[in-house]
Amino acid sequence: MSAAKLAALIEASERAVVFTGAGISTESGIPDFRSPGGVWSKMKPIMFQDFVASADKRREAWTRAFNGTAGWTGRSPNAGHDAVARLVAAGKVSAVITQNVDNLHQDSGIPDERVIELHGNASYATCLDCGLRHELHHLKPAFVERGEIPACRACGSIVKTATISFGQSMPEGPMARAEEETLSCDLFIVLGSSLVVYPAAGFPLLAKRNGARLVIVNREPTEQDPYADLVLNGEIGPLLSSIVP
Ligand code: APR
Ligand code: ZN
Repeated sequence: MSAAKLAALIEASERAVVFTGAGISTESGIPDFRSPGGVWSKMKPIMFQDFVASADKRREAWTRAFNGTAGWTGRSPNAGHDAVARLVAAGKVSAVITQNVDNLHQDSGIPDERVIELHGNASYATCLDCGLRHELHHLKPAFVERGEIPACRACGSIVKTATISFGQSMPEGPMARAEEETLSCDLFIVLGSSLVVYPAAGFPLLAKRNGARLVIVNREPTEQDPYADLVLNGEIGPLLSSIVP
């Protein structure tokens, strides 16, 4: 049974890294992006430059954020998240590099400093100029009741959920940490990603080229499967629950 092979690779590993995509959160009720019926089949991404340039685009983006169109906030971790949290707690996994913005790895009990968010986080907002953090529940009433588009309470500039949108530059700190962790591991486990969005999708191959074992756990095949030491096509939650004590 190939799940046993993953268990053996985890057992033999001194320092593993887990890399997650939206596929680990679908069992929490959050749609992924590219499966049939996924987020991008229902709406187009709002490019960063459009969000900055157009009040209408900002209104559309905030409507999506506050009515939960993409379903990112207010959900709970599932068995897949919990199994990853157990691997971190057991000292097997040194870091979780995630493309997800739903905060579910932190909600599953993984310390913030062990979660590397390449695409930011949708559970709060920041000012694009001074960086001040804004809580969504402080911004929502004025938007919902009076249509006021959120602006920074300190400097009045544009405020955006703390996600990295298409067209926005990648966060330097998390990218540097992700590279460091990728180059330090002997086992790199991909969970629930189609591996089509770069530069994030470059980390599995970087690990492989650096001599780590590469495992891809995904419902569908990915274009990086040929480079993996082990590919498991199935549901993450039940699969990880069966092998992670
Ligand atoms: N178990 C295993 N695999 C799953 C499950 C599940 N329960 N649910 C979905 N999947 C798989 C799908 O088959 C799909 O291949 O997870 C993958 C998710 O791929 P995407 O929807 O493309 O999500 P992701 O790879 O995270 O996208 C990367 O694209 O739009 C941007 O910023 C967005 O971070 C996102 C990035
Ligand atoms: Zn500001």
